[in-house]
Amino acid sequence: MNNFDYYNPTHIVFGQDRLGELDTLIPKNAKVMITFGGQSAKKYGTIDTVKAALIEREIIEFGGIEPNPQYDTLVKAVKICKDEQVDFVLAVGGGSVMDGTKFIALAAKHPSDQYQEILFHGFSPVPASDALTLGCVATLPATGSEMNMGGVITYMAQKYPFMCPLAFPKFSILDPDLTKTLPKEQIANGIADAFIHVIEQYLTQDTNAKVQDRIGEGVLKTLIEDGPVTLADNENMDARKNFIWSATNALNGIIGAGVPQDWSTHMIGHEMTAQFGIAHGRTLAIILPNLLRERKDKKRAKLIQFAERVWDIKEGSDDQKIALAIDKTEAFFNSLDIVTNLTHYGIDNDGIESIITNMEKMGLTALSETGDLTLDIVRKILIATK
Ligand code: NZQ
Ligand code: ZN
Repeated sequence: MNNFDYYNPTHIVFGQDRLGELDTLIPKNAKVMITFGGQSAKKYGTIDTVKAALIEREIIEFGGIEPNPQYDTLVKAVKICKDEQVDFVLAVGGGSVMDGTKFIALAAKHPSDQYQEILFHGFSPVPASDALTLGCVATLPATGSEMNMGGVITYMAQKYPFMCPLAFPKFSILDPDLTKTLPKEQIANGIADAFIHVIEQYLTQDTNAKVQDRIGEGVLKTLIEDGPVTLADNENMDARKNFIWSATNALNGIIGAGVPQDWSTHMIGHEMTAQFGIAHGRTLAIILPNLLRERKDKKRAKLIQFAERVWDIKEGSDDQKIALAIDKTEAFFNSLDIVTNLTHYGIDNDGIESIITNMEKMGLTALSETGDLTLDIVRKILIATK
């Protein structure tokens, strides 16, 4: 196991009927901006419940944060926060609203109005010294944004990840009832996203990190068991709770502490979202199977472990176990109604080349835990996925 620092200050408020506790979670004298997305949080009454819980506070609503949140939209909220001296931002929504709100919180205290500077640090922490305090009411289990310090913002048609310890939510409310209005497609995307968050931290080089590995395997097995139940049965609360808590644990830092990480699937997926508008979780499910087939020699020991411990494959040679585990993973995504070939999404050879060109522009030329996944290899993976 490698050296690591693990820090996570987010207070999780998990369970049904807990929105009323917002009253104790946000200071009474706070001026609060409630941020939300297109319409779901309004339409299904969550914003009204949130406002009722915060009755004594001065409240500003800011709606319209898009899926894959856009820089220009967020800057409008930043301006309001500064003009109105907002001191608490409350995200009510999925990953896009939570990420957008993290950006707003940092940008409102940025020393200049060149807020895009926040986006140019990659996976290194943004060197910020102040931010507004933020909280989340999470309505979509997928990204783990409710308990991590990261976000992804679209700026000039490219997706930029950022991280900053000041972007950890002070609290996140995870009320499973709020997720019952999700379309099936979003639940499927969420299962895939959470699954691949674990994979990108677990399926790398073996460093004998037993706790991280076994938590990761537990999360994967729970997603395999309870993801499809949640998808099929909107009333199964036990499965839904396990799915939600899996998604949070997949990316709250615990699995990734002290182990090599490989975010290649995410980096390729971000380009597919930026250029072709395919939902985040779905892009990952499309790419992962052929990425694993291409990289099976690099990831050999962990792939065998994945086959045996996650998919319970005990028979056959190591090569057969690996091949079957990857096939089962792809079949799992397909069983969620996620088609895993590029042609289905209208991406042809020209599309593949434009993904490669943009990745080059973004400097994404040496990916993976070993830094040797070049754009030629990305091309091979994409061609195999046609
Ligand atoms: O905008 P509204 O009307 O709210 O509709 C949203 C949106 O259309 C809808 N939705 C959310 N909660 C709902 C609901 N509809 C009905 N009922 C509810 N309870 O779902 C749609 C998708 O929402 P979005 O927030 O975009 O989805 P998701 O949570 O998958 O977030 C995706 C974003 O997160 C980033 C992605 O890049 C993408 O921009 N990621 C963030 C990460 C992080 N912060 O750590 C890591 C991830 O890997 C990911 O990259
Ligand atoms: Zn993701």
